[in-house]
Amino acid sequence: MNCLISAGPTREWIDPVRFISNPSSGKMGYALAQVAHNLGMDVTLVSGPVSIEPPSGVKTISVETALEMKDAMLEFSETADLIIMCAAVCDHRPQKKCDHKVAKENIPETLLLQKNPDILKILGSQKKPGQILVGFAAETHDVLASAKKKLIKKNLDWIVVNDVSNHEIGFMSDTNEVIVLGASDEVERISLADKSIIAKKILHVVYPQWQIKAP
Ligand code: C5P
Repeated sequence: MNCLISAGPTREWIDPVRFISNPSSGKMGYALAQVAHNLGMDVTLVSGPVSIEPPSGVKTISVETALEMKDAMLEFSETADLIIMCAAVCDHRPQKKCDHKVAKENIPETLLLQKNPDILKILGSQKKPGQILVGFAAETHDVLASAKKKLIKKNLDWIVVNDVSNHEIGFMSDTNEVIVLGASDEVERISLADKSIIAKKILHVVYPQWQIKAP
């Protein structure tokens, strides 16, 4: 069983010393990778820049930008049975990356952006028969309806929803609380717990065969 997981933020460079990013810690994706490995899967983790230890026994590929993450995910998706796109991919990148440091006085007041590819949507559009594709969504309102729309639009089997209007859980926290929605209208609520417990429960929902193999 090959499992491919993405985690962490991406960095979108403005020049060699400045970038746009987000505060994703990578903890949720790393916890999923560790639990998947412990349960006997062959795990590849594609990670943006984070400051936590790589999970033991897991092949970890380090990337920085959304474009690099896309290339790595597409390459390893060829042989993946289960793909979990947990990374907080930056939706945009600067239109131009300057190859030298821009002097302070020359920095324009407006930064022109261009859209990054939606990696998950691409993976959904080329899903192999039998492959299970899982996305994440951070929502603030109409949480379930918005997530369900994404699940359909991106051709996912499951979507893990974080209600980010709740400040007790979040990007950098050690704990999380999620709802897992399925393409056949399943709704599984996983209450507040450490991210490693959440990871185990998510994996049991999206790949229930494990409940038989791993008590
Ligand atoms: O549409 P939205 O960004 O809310 O969807 C979140 C999901 O899409 C996450 O699983 C995230 O990893 C993935 N995503 C992606 N490529 C992007 C933006 C988000 O794969 N450019």
